[in-house]
Amino acid sequence: MNVLLTGANGFIGRNISAALTAAGHRVTPVSRHDSIDFARMNAPAHWLSHLKHIDAVINCVGIIGETGSQRFEPLHTLAPSALFRACEQAGVRRVLQISALGADETAFSAYHLSKRAADDVLRGLDLDWFVLRPSLIYGKGGKSAELFMRMARLPMIPVIGDGLQNLQPVHISDVVTTVMHSLTSRESRKTLDILGTETVTFAEWMQWMRRAQGLPPAPVFRIPFRLAMAIARLARHFNPMLQPENLRMLQTGYRADVQPLVQFLGREPLAVQPRLFFSDAVHTGRPS
Ligand SMILES: NC(=O)c1ccc[n+]([C@@H]2O[C@H](COP(=O)([O-])OP(=O)(O)OC[C@H]3O[C@@H](n4cnc5c(N)ncnc54)[C@H](OP(=O)(O)O)[C@@H]3O)[C@@H](O)[C@H]2O)c1
Repeated sequence: MNVLLTGANGFIGRNISAALTAAGHRVTPVSRHDSIDFARMNAPAHWLSHLKHIDAVINCVGIIGETGSQRFEPLHTLAPSALFRACEQAGVRRVLQISALGADETAFSAYHLSKRAADDVLRGLDLDWFVLRPSLIYGKGGKSAELFMRMARLPMIPVIGDGLQNLQPVHISDVVTTVMHSLTSRESRKTLDILGTETVTFAEWMQWMRRAQGLPPAPVFRIPFRLAMAIARLARHFNPMLQPENLRMLQTGYRADVQPLVQFLGREPLAVQPRLFFSDAVHTGRPS
């Protein structure tokens, strides 16, 4: 297959790209690195010339916080919606959208709402679509994974409130395997949460990250939610991930049923192991 892969040089995109190439597919990459800025791709006509000889589209573009011209609505909603509509016009039937866990009817953040708006457009089109909603992804080179790794190395681990927020982290391998299976599956028109089997609290996750880095457990340093929000209002100028709204999403915690993923993959997601924190995706295929 010739696959148009947006966000091809990002954390998820480059792991998908490697798996596609290894499986013998051709990757047509799209990112600003390839001179295509989503901020300017908000009409189907902008995409049609890029869809010639394309068999499938995977959208992995996204931001976790707004900076400068990088805004949620154009990047998460307008450009992907235009791309999906162009796919319908061009007859590119198989379209995979990387959304995010929580981009559902409970969404309240601009991040999730802007993702959900594009997911809804895709779900309304006559295409063989998949909306894939990963939980927090860990593995080598992920921006949020690296930020958490750095935080876990501190002598005291900062947590918001009691640090008991729920996470169901998933390894990048399981995300890539789900994408690869979605690409060729006889099933389609499916919204699937991609998450691990283990639910951990944020404080536990930090300790796991310490262990993976060969460090002993550290005491936690509890930051009251209001103070954390005030700090985030300043810190967002240094790191867009540290947005107050991202803290609100962390505070909310997201859990979902892993069984639909288990059924789709034909196996459980990978159990957390120290070496996985430093590994790229290994596309494990689907047991027959
Ligand atoms: N990582 C996670 O834990 C996680 C979990 C759930 C959902 N997700 C979602 O998955 C998607 C990808 O995440 P990621 O971790 O791979 O992020 P990432 O490493 O930051 O990659 C983002 C990709 O988007 C591209 N991009 C950004 N702005 C662009 C623009 N204006 N025009 C065209 N391309 C643009 C980037 O390329 P250039 O900068 O070169 O343009 C890059 O390829 C995001 O939507 C994210 O919300 C991620």
